[in-house]
Amino acid sequence: MKVMVRSRRHRVNKVGLLCLILVAVTVFVIGIFWVYQEVKVAEKQQSTNEIIRVADARLDEIEAKKKEPVYITLPGTDKLRAPAENYEDPTNVWTLVNKAKALPAGYVPPELMAASVSTRANSTADEKRVRQTIDTPLTQLFAAAQKEGHSLMIGSAYRSATTQEQLFNTYVSRVGYAEADKYSAHPGHSEHQTGLAVDISTISQQCYLSECFIGTADGQWLAENAHKHGFTLRYPKGKEAITGYNFEPWHYRYVGIDLATALYLSRLTLDEAWPYMETALATLRSNRAVK
Ligand code: DAL
Ligand code: ZN
Repeated sequence: MKVMVRSRRHRVNKVGLLCLILVAVTVFVIGIFWVYQEVKVAEKQQSTNEIIRVADARLDEIEAKKKEPVYITLPGTDKLRAPAENYEDPTNVWTLVNKAKALPAGYVPPELMAASVSTRANSTADEKRVRQTIDTPLTQLFAAAQKEGHSLMIGSAYRSATTQEQLFNTYVSRVGYAEADKYSAHPGHSEHQTGLAVDISTISQQCYLSECFIGTADGQWLAENAHKHGFTLRYPKGKEAITGYNFEPWHYRYVGIDLATALYLSRLTLDEAWPYMETALATLRSNRAVK
């Protein structure tokens, strides 16, 4: 009887031990699995952090590149910071319009307004209009001129493609195509259509639209001072082969003070400066500062 009881107790102890071992093994396996999972999660988190860090660094690099200054240096001038804008856009104040480069068909500039300065009495309502962008600079230019005794007015500013066409045809019938082509732009090719160009006249209209305007005190003053207010003499003497037009001492185009000053100092026309501007634009594009 005693022997039977001892053997049963012995068996119970064995089963208990086995259970204990089983529990211990299970706990150990679960522990190992848990640690393995934790390591995996940590590794995953680490690689996610690394991806985020690399992406952040790349974004910072792109942002820094976008802000990197780009300069234009015209011969004989200080470097000029190129604005991060698309100069090829016809609304841009640096846009180039010439015999080879037309405005888009039917282009009408934005924000045309009646100029605040004096205008020629018998000019059309359109010719008295300018882009709002140039109204203040033009007012300042005329005020500066007035201070030094030069009374100026706008002879002709904005002209639509249709008006330009009529004008060109009138000149052709008057002097023939070849002659007209030397002083009148074809429709779509006139800076007047941008709203950024003005034919300037003295109040007396002395030498208006005539080369002798440069011989007047007003014409001289303009040639020396217009750039200080952002206007460039667009068709200078000696550059006829480049611009394609006769010398027009009355035709001024707004490009902003920095570029107008660089053009004045370098004695380059906008046409000649254009390749420098395009190089700057290409850099701005590759820096993602301009689309
Ligand atoms: N006279 C200038 C070239 C024009 O017609 O636009
Ligand atoms: Zn003109």
